[in-house]
Amino acid sequence: MNRLDALRRRHEAAEQGGGPERRARQHQEGKLSARERIELLLDENSFEELDKLVTHRCRDFGMEEQIVPGDGFVTGYGRIEGRLVYVFAQDFTVFGGSLSETNAQKICKIMDLALKTGAPVIGLNDSGGARIQEGVVSLAGYADIFLRNTLASGVVPQISAIMGPCAGGAVYSPAITDFVFMVDHTSYMFVTGPDVIKTVTHEDVTKETLGGSMTHNSVSGVGHFIAPDDAECCRMIRELLTYLPQNNREDPPRRPTNDPAGRMDAALDTIVPAESNLPYDIKDVIHRVVDGGEFFEVHEHWARNIVVGFGRMDGRSVGIVGNQPAFLAGVLDINSSVKAARFVRFCDAFNIPILTFEDVPGFLPGTEQEFGGIIRHGAKLLYAYAEATVPKITVITRKAYGGAYCVMGSKHLRTDINLAWPTAEIAVMGPEGAVNIVYRRELNAAADRAATRQQKVDEFRERFANPFVAAERGYVDDVIEPRETRPRVIAALRMLENKVDTMPRKKHGNIPL
Ligand code: HXC
Repeated sequence: MNRLDALRRRHEAAEQGGGPERRARQHQEGKLSARERIELLLDENSFEELDKLVTHRCRDFGMEEQIVPGDGFVTGYGRIEGRLVYVFAQDFTVFGGSLSETNAQKICKIMDLALKTGAPVIGLNDSGGARIQEGVVSLAGYADIFLRNTLASGVVPQISAIMGPCAGGAVYSPAITDFVFMVDHTSYMFVTGPDVIKTVTHEDVTKETLGGSMTHNSVSGVGHFIAPDDAECCRMIRELLTYLPQNNREDPPRRPTNDPAGRMDAALDTIVPAESNLPYDIKDVIHRVVDGGEFFEVHEHWARNIVVGFGRMDGRSVGIVGNQPAFLAGVLDINSSVKAARFVRFCDAFNIPILTFEDVPGFLPGTEQEFGGIIRHGAKLLYAYAEATVPKITVITRKAYGGAYCVMGSKHLRTDINLAWPTAEIAVMGPEGAVNIVYRRELNAAADRAATRQQKVDEFRERFANPFVAAERGYVDDVIEPRETRPRVIAALRMLENKVDTMPRKKHGNIPL
């Protein structure tokens, strides 16, 4: 056989993976192959594969008879919208996509390159976990990857797509990455599967309920995005990357927009209901303010009392955090604090300004929250905002009460520009609660308790439930007409373009995890 034929044969064997039967099974299950996924993910013809000829070294359990070039992982680099990315994809048709010593080395190789060249890493996961035949060598491979995930955290964006099984300790690589996509009905993640759970706790649970895409996107918060199929998942990853810089030393790319910076929106003037207990959808506000109404929401289904995601203002990426009055009145609780804290820290790590829309009645009371540690979880959000040195702008649309006023990007946490709408209510607590405490004696002594109470509530509202006390102190920089929000925020972002702020010298802080 001439040398070219020999080479082609090896390449072909790598491309065949586990063979036509296993590939057909993959398709029957509604999943694409590793190579098909990479093709959809990257710009056409941009993929450069590395280590296609690598083979495993296991000589036990008859493994020496089963050698597939590439060993089931497809790794390399390519482009998304012309920008460099590194990618690995696990091929379930080769030993169930399980991780061998050699394909752990393949992943480490591209991660090392990503760190040196400053480009995102995308992992397409579809694997039975550690390759059982290789034992501890495979576990070592996972730990090598976890180390690199950690070292790369905050240096280059890391994105995981779960497109099949992801179980056991293998889940911890995606967990360390910045964003986890899951494909509906074909992906699942868990530390221990249904059989082990049955043995240990006698619980009966299906794979889907335990670790399916909706479980992780709406209950656990492990998943950030849910895609209906592999193709849409790849498209969503491409879209997400348009908002992100290549690494922590660069700014996100600008995308010119036809949406005028000075565009006013009169509908914003009436979006907040006159009755302060009535809900409205903060996403309506966000859509009306960002370029072209485009908002790429993160964690859409989890902790819906806070909304986080990416948009653009004046062509620049911004990370948006908004309390959601349409869900649990926008209250801060454990999950919403954790959700927003992680998002704020991501934006800060990657030079993405943070725009906060605030309408929060306070922290959620109750034993469930207190026993669950709302004190330390709420502190994460406070810490994240305080620590962030990127441009920070807060718009108070309505309630900014109590500790939640301090937490949600207040001036005191070195937010650069704080604006309030005339509907803002900034105080220690709402008028009803305040009157019950401050005027308890008077109310007990009053002949007509209800009338006295109402009078005091009205007085309190008039005096404190407005933005002007804070504006008089300079805690908000201006009270604006809601319609002006877009131009005012854009003006602030332009002003802050060259902002530099620093942290005291330290190894790292001690965020209350
Ligand atoms: C080697 C594996 C494998 C593994 C699957 N295969 N998992 N080979 N090591 N971990 C092989 C199967 O033998 C089979 O080979 C092929 O992949 C497809 O597997 P099936 O079982 O036929 O597929 P399916 O019915 O879809 O089930 C998928 C599965 C199941 C749920 C993932 O295979 C499974 O439970 N695998 C073991 C999972 C596991 O316990 N892994 C270790 C977890 S601990 P053939 O030749 O028949 O096609 C772990 C620790 C990480 O990962 C530690 C990090 C710190």
